Amino acid sequence: MPPRRKFTALDDRLYDYLAAHRTPPDDAVARRLQEDTAKLGSEAVMQTSPDQAALLRILTAAIGARVAVEVGTFTGFSALAIARGLAPGGRLHCFDASEEWTAIARRYWKEAGVADRIELHVGDAAKTLRALPDDPPVDFAFIDADKKGYPLYWEEVVRRLRPGGLVAVDNVLWEGEVVEDDEQGEDVVAIRRFNEQLLADRRVESVMLAVADGLTLARRLP
Ligand SMILES: C[S@@+](CC[C@H](N)C(=O)[O-])C[C@H]1O[C@@H](n2cnc3c(N)ncnc32)[C@H](O)[C@@H]1O
Repeated sequence: MPPRRKFTALDDRLYDYLAAHRTPPDDAVARRLQEDTAKLGSEAVMQTSPDQAALLRILTAAIGARVAVEVGTFTGFSALAIARGLAPGGRLHCFDASEEWTAIARRYWKEAGVADRIELHVGDAAKTLRALPDDPPVDFAFIDADKKGYPLYWEEVVRRLRPGGLVAVDNVLWEGEVVEDDEQGEDVVAIRRFNEQLLADRRVESVMLAVADGLTLARRLP
């Protein structure tokens, strides 16, 4: 008998079940932020899924993160989760190119009472990230901006990451296209190349998780 595959493929019903079995349930501010973002139309698809946001919050809290970085903030949903996971006195640096989308983020962070923990750097992250001080080191980072920029964001983040610090990288499965040879769009090509680069990086150990559109978790080795 062939060995049983060690994963459970999700369909809509199973995903709904999974989504209903996490704590705490989404609060009113997070829900309204999701609803407001949905009004943007097709761009709303960029928002992190609620289960992924819960995972980001749990990871941030689990490692007692005091300094966190997010590259790709959009309307602030994942940042809200990370900010809520920070240790007391912690700080989240958010990097995004859009004034328009991050204006929505700022509104909701204020409402959620986390605005004072978040520093927003608006502009091309290729430039703004370089200006982030090396000290204090980064405990936790989430990379979720333009895919071609991932190699650079990765370098800027990993060199500032403390030993034992974590980086989460989104969209590493690109809706499954990473394994489809005839898919040669520039985003999937960039993701494939980045996935290989990360795998070869001896500064970290990593695991690719089938959460949302694929999430790689990497831990900086001592
Ligand atoms: C997938 S969305 C981020 C979603 C966000 N993490 C959330 O949960 O709502 C990608 C974001 O990357 C930003 N972005 C794209 N290219 C960028 C660049 N070169 N520098 C900074 N931000 C960039 C976009 O403005 C967009 O808000």
